[in-house]
Amino acid sequence: MPAQIQWSAVQQYVEGLVPPRHPQLQRMEQEAHKLRFPIIGPACGQLCYQLARMIGAKRVFELGSGFGYSTAWFARAMSENGQGQVFHVVWDETLSTQAREHLSAMGLDPFVQFRVGEAIAALRDAEGPFDIIFNDIDKEGYPEAFPVIESKLRVGGVMIVDNLIWHGQVLDERDREASTMAIRLFTEQVVKSDRWISNLVPIRDGLLVATKIAEMARVP
Ligand SMILES: C[S@@+](CC[C@H](N)C(=O)[O-])C[C@H]1O[C@@H](n2cnc3c(N)ncnc32)[C@H](O)[C@@H]1O
Repeated sequence: MPAQIQWSAVQQYVEGLVPPRHPQLQRMEQEAHKLRFPIIGPACGQLCYQLARMIGAKRVFELGSGFGYSTAWFARAMSENGQGQVFHVVWDETLSTQAREHLSAMGLDPFVQFRVGEAIAALRDAEGPFDIIFNDIDKEGYPEAFPVIESKLRVGGVMIVDNLIWHGQVLDERDREASTMAIRLFTEQVVKSDRWISNLVPIRDGLLVATKIAEMARVP
């Protein structure tokens, strides 16, 4: 075995194992590449899809949805689970419209509810509980989002959060950027909580997968 395996080679290998995708998903991947728009990519998409199928998810809430790439993976799971709704939430009207077009081209729009606005506020206003909550907003917002996600997810539900490796910045102790600090704080909050079983899955930029095992204590 080689002494050091290259990170990018492992990522490429893992991504290459993802089965062929819907042509529209491939177009979205090309568009993201061309515009340098951050999407979760095929390996994380496949894991989101797998988790949603595994737990038979019917209610999924996404914070920071973009043009609908991650949404499409969850919506596919809803369709194959027989029913369900994914909440697509982004504060940009143009991205929301593009997402509608992409999801409709895949015939998955009946499984999606589109909301334009700030995602943490939208989750606060949404009626829970959800089976899966996926968080991909601006990283400074992660610590604020955590208690809201916790209150809206059912016990046994799954929280999925992107970018916890943050291009390696979390490993650099000298890095004190607000985004890096927020990711570190959020990660610590989750892994130290006895209400969650969590794992940082090192695919792409690091996907946290955490199962909620207990409710927060109620304030009397
Ligand atoms: C990383 S991209 C989303 C990618 C998407 N999850 C995917 O993989 O297809 C995050 C998007 O959410 C938007 N966003 C960031 N913070 C937000 C917030 N607090 N509320 C609503 N939208 C937000 C960003 O402007 C961007 O369009």
